[in-house]
Amino acid sequence: MNDSPADAPELFTWEFATDPYPAYAWLREHSPVHRTALPSGVEAWLVTRYEDARQALADTRLSKNPAHHDEPAHAKGKTGIPGERKAELMTHLLNIDPPDHTRLRRLVSKAFTPRRVAEFAPRVQELTDHLIDNFIEEGSADLIHDFAFPLPIYAICDLLGVPREDQDDFRDWAGMMIRHGGGPRGGVARSVKKMRGYLAELIHRKRENPGEDLISGLIRASDHGEHLTENEAAAMAFILLFAGFETTVNLIGNGVYALLRNPEQRERLQRSLDAGESGLLETGIEELLRYDGPVELATWRFATEPLTLGGQRIAAGDPVLVVLAAADRDPERFTDPDTLDLARRDNQHLGYGHGIHYCLGAPLARLEGQAALATLLRRLPDLRLAVEPTDLRWRGGLIMRGLRTLPVEFGPGL
Ligand code: HEM
Repeated sequence: MNDSPADAPELFTWEFATDPYPAYAWLREHSPVHRTALPSGVEAWLVTRYEDARQALADTRLSKNPAHHDEPAHAKGKTGIPGERKAELMTHLLNIDPPDHTRLRRLVSKAFTPRRVAEFAPRVQELTDHLIDNFIEEGSADLIHDFAFPLPIYAICDLLGVPREDQDDFRDWAGMMIRHGGGPRGGVARSVKKMRGYLAELIHRKRENPGEDLISGLIRASDHGEHLTENEAAAMAFILLFAGFETTVNLIGNGVYALLRNPEQRERLQRSLDAGESGLLETGIEELLRYDGPVELATWRFATEPLTLGGQRIAAGDPVLVVLAAADRDPERFTDPDTLDLARRDNQHLGYGHGIHYCLGAPLARLEGQAALATLLRRLPDLRLAVEPTDLRWRGGLIMRGLRTLPVEFGPGL
């Protein structure tokens, strides 16, 4: 049913990372369930239409467990598929299926509640202001390095209960993971190892001496008499850090960039914030996620049996990648999908996924995204790009897409 796949645009190039949307439009139209070789050499299916994507995300025949991957044994561990190496920290929500997933998710949901996140709002505001204070006198900044990058890491560390004096270590480890996520593995492996050692010790300490933080909450959480083991608690803390970090960096980076490129929308938001309204900020964050969300491809899924998706036969063991960023620009689902409309109402985007793996951290991401954008616009009302858009470099991984730097200028701020 595919048109000639020979005409398919080249994926995973530099141009693609800069602007993948024309390639996604081609795929949606000509080859909506598309077999391709990933940079690692692994063959996978890319799902780009909204309806197929939503269906795939909820399909129980698509497992998250990398053990279902049908790769020749010699390639195992070299594919870049997270979790393929059986590391302790990798037995986390994004790599497991029910019933284990159901049990772990229920336990973590008892500790990571919307109420805990809501109570955290003043701290997020304080962090946001503090980061802006650090550069406001300069008249210029790199909003990725100075703002979008540190905000989520300090926020999650605080929430988990990592003492302030240790948080810069986390910042360095996380920086290593972001910088080299798709590249040399050595530094990343070392950072993961250090993080694992640190988390194991912290969990041990919190067990002896619990507090009000999320790690203590994870240790305390019980369901029908069941608790998380120390290993499970460490894997959970790790996935909260890992899943909640680069995503939020890119939500802020891609979001600010989209606003700077759409001055009418930005002015509208600024006016509504000046008037003390929050409605446009709330719909606006959802729209920024749809328009240029941080997660390009939902994480891996593997067919546990042969199945048909969007008219395409998929064999047992085949990897399937749901391209959220392509689905969220599907004209069959969204009116004027390539237009940024902060007031968009009919906006059931897939930026946070769908189904049982729907983003657990969505309330925290919304809180951070809203605080970041509102505070930037309020305190730096004439914020502008300091370089031409063509000079910006994008980090296009397999999973995440975001700016490497976002140089901005501004007059005296508030
Ligand atoms: C899952 C997106 C922020 C924790 C997911 C998934 C997506 C996503 C698409 C589903 C992946 C899949 O089905 O394969 C985002 C975006 C964020 C964000 C766009 C920011 C804008 C966060 C934050 C946290 C977090 C701040 C926590 C602190 C998680 C966890 C899962 C998850 C634990 C796994 C849930 C499960 O498997 O049951 N996220 N996320 N995320 N996210 Fe987020």
